[in-house]
Amino acid sequence: MEITINRRLTRLRKTETLRNLFSETKLSVSDFVMPYFVVEGRNIKQPISSMPGIFRFSIDNLIKEMVEVKKLNIPAVLLFGISEKKNKIGSSAYNSNGIVQKAIKKIKQEFGTDIIVITDVCLCSYTEHGHCGILCPTVNVQRPTDFIVDNDATLDVLSKIALSHSEAGVDIVAPSAMADGQVKIIRETLDKNGFKDVAIMSYSAKYASNFYAPFREAVDSSPKFGDRKSYQMDFHNVKEAIREVEQDIKEGADIVMVKPALAYLDVIKTVKENFNIPVAAYNVSGEYSMVKSYCEKIQIEKNLVIEILTSIKRSGADIIISYWTKDVARWLKK
Ligand code: PBG
Repeated sequence: MEITINRRLTRLRKTETLRNLFSETKLSVSDFVMPYFVVEGRNIKQPISSMPGIFRFSIDNLIKEMVEVKKLNIPAVLLFGISEKKNKIGSSAYNSNGIVQKAIKKIKQEFGTDIIVITDVCLCSYTEHGHCGILCPTVNVQRPTDFIVDNDATLDVLSKIALSHSEAGVDIVAPSAMADGQVKIIRETLDKNGFKDVAIMSYSAKYASNFYAPFREAVDSSPKFGDRKSYQMDFHNVKEAIREVEQDIKEGADIVMVKPALAYLDVIKTVKENFNIPVAAYNVSGEYSMVKSYCEKIQIEKNLVIEILTSIKRSGADIIISYWTKDVARWLKK
């Protein structure tokens, strides 16, 4: 029997060439940012057990990585420092001779404008207690209250960190402490000191997430007591993300971020639809490790990762921070 169907939606799916022609979302390496963990020392390339394929690099080896990054046309890297000199106020985070500051200088010296250097601006891997800010004077370590971090005391330190990164030559600073007013104070501090062109990518909608666990192993930044729920966002909320983003834009953010990405595609979409500003999505460590262990048994990493990253882009992300960035660059070349 002949069936007449006018609209056959499968017509445009018949071959790979057709599918490519009509694909609505295309991943491009030019949208990606590769995170790096930097440690003191020489000739270090230390595997991170919770994140297979990801390493802590000393600056000399980081520079070798940058040669590859450039060759792969990866536009940007996001640097995290691992500090050996932790204290209560995380002061090694703004040392002009600190690990991140030295790494920025070296990359900029060698690669100039070819690689965009972004830095995480936070205290958690520099404080001995592992929180993202200065603790309230009243905090009782045995019985921590919900009011762990002193928001306003933290702002001053965050602005010092951002300034020290700028003096070292950073292109974009990315405050991730979730302190109210952090974008404003950083913008003002940078402007006052002649760094009007250093951009701010704010971790605006950063949720208190269980997906950060592998990262915290990587940079040794787990809170020694309590959790981050009194400053990072509650994952039940999306309207609140709009308020966070709105506030950061008012304070001068150039790029806003949603983090994590995969379980938060609705948040990415909502932010994209409500604001006219570049949106970054952070495909975080737990998302990475989860897929890595799944793929130990079932060898579909490439296809699975492309599907995940495409969904992040499809939801509205303009740029994606991902530990798969180097792999993506290679896969897309072929
Ligand atoms: C620092 C920071 C964290 C991440 C990025 N910046 C950890 C945290 O908030 O505990 C997580 C990144 C990842 O999981 O890949 N505050």
